[in-house]
Parts: sequence; C-alpha cells; structure tokens
Amino acid sequence: MAAEGTDLDGEARLVDALVAPGARILDAGCGPGRVGAALFRRGHQVVGVDVDPELIDAAQQDHHGPIWLVADLADLDLAAAGYPETFDAAVLAGNVMAFLAPGTGARVLSQVARHLRPDAPIAVGFGRDRGYSIDAFDADVTIAGLTVEHRFATWNIRPWEPSADFAVSILRTPSSGRDLDLTAVAVGSTRNDSASEWSSIAGQAALVEGSLAGQNPTI
Ligand SMILES: C[S@@+](CC[C@H](N)C(=O)[O-])C[C@H]1O[C@@H](n2cnc3c(N)ncnc32)[C@H](O)[C@@H]1O
Repeated sequence: MAAEGTDLDGEARLVDALVAPGARILDAGCGPGRVGAALFRRGHQVVGVDVDPELIDAAQQDHHGPIWLVADLADLDLAAAGYPETFDAAVLAGNVMAFLAPGTGARVLSQVARHLRPDAPIAVGFGRDRGYSIDAFDADVTIAGLTVEHRFATWNIRPWEPSADFAVSILRTPSSGRDLDLTAVAVGSTRNDSASEWSSIAGQAALVEGSLAGQNPTI
C-alpha cells in the first residue's frame, strides 16, 4: 500500500507533532502495530495494547522495538502487568472506538487516561459510518473526565465540519487531579429530556467513578 502512495503513517505524524521528542506513547487498540511502529521509527517509546492475541503476535513478529501486550482496554492496568511508568500521550487509531464492546467507550477512555500523565493528549480517530456517533463519543469523553481540545476531519488536519465522514479528536487529560466531573454529566442531563438516557449516563458515570477509586492518584 505504501508503494501505491497510500499514507500509512498519517496518524503517527499527527501524534508526533503533539509530543516532545522521545515521548512515551500508548498505542491503544494497536492491532498488528502499524501506528506504534511508525511512532517508534520517529524516536518514541511505544507500548501497544490489543485484546486480540493474534494481532499482538503479528506486531511482535513484524515490528521490533515497541512493547506489544495483550490486554482489554476496558480493564487496562499496565502497572499490574509490570509497566508502571505513565505515558505522555495515547493514540486510538483505525476506528478502535467503533470496535469496542457497546457501552464501554467511557470506561475505555477513562482506563487509557489513567495511564497518562496530567495534561496529556489522546488522539482518537473513527469513521462516522461505524455505528458510533460523535454525540455518543462526546458523552463518553465527558464521563471519562476528559475534554475535546481539537477536532479535525482527517489525520492531516483538514478542518472539521459536521458533514465530515471521519473525525479525529485530540482529547486532553486534566492538568491536575483525576476527579470525575459529575457536575458536567448532571448539566448534560438537563439538556436531555430522555429519562432513560440520563439513567444510562448516570449509570456509566457511577461505573467509571467506582473504577477510578483508589487508583493512580496523580492522574
Ligand atoms: C481496525 S483495528 C485498528 C488497529 C490499529 N490501531 C491501526 O490503526 O492499524 C481496531 C482494533 O481495536 C482492537 N480492540 C477492540 N476492542 C478492544 C478492547 N476492548 N481492548 C483492546 N483492543 C481492542 C481490535 O482488536 C483491533 O485490533
């Protein structure tokens, strides 16, 4: 594909611009390692995580240098796996958010975020035709205690517009502390007449809040 002119490193080039040289980067939902390998070639330290052991095996065979691990992002705990260092950034490329088990988006974003240092970027890209809407994503971002700092229509930062068929969002972890902002979620409920949707959001918030308790207090 590269020989045909396809840009296989577009995600890595954007993430590279978000961090300092030699950053520690989490490739979340890394698949066979395409993005993480490109970031490693740019001089970064990379840990790639995917739930599919066959894809991690392929990454280990094809891309030496990064650390490739089998793990479910919804239960991610790299410290328990022997990798306690926090990351400077994370990337979820290639529609990872749309591949997650339904209803786990906020939990996955929260688990990824707790592995990052404060004030760190998370780059997330997915297609609008994948059954996971921008509104659902933005709700998950809020529940996870993150903010959307930028949004583009492509990985080479064409401007965002509501009709775009792809969304690249740059999220940011809180600059200090890691308290779940339940106020923000509650404010969201006043804009939504659907009691069932609110109860679903509140339930997810409680789940995330519970999962945050007692873990990495610096994030
Ligand atoms: C289309 S692939 C993208 C792979 C890679 N990021 C890329 O851009 O080439 C989506 C990946 O998300 C992974 N994935 C889905 N749910 C996951 C989860 N809960 N934890 C970890 N990985 C997951 C899948 O196994 C798959 O490898």
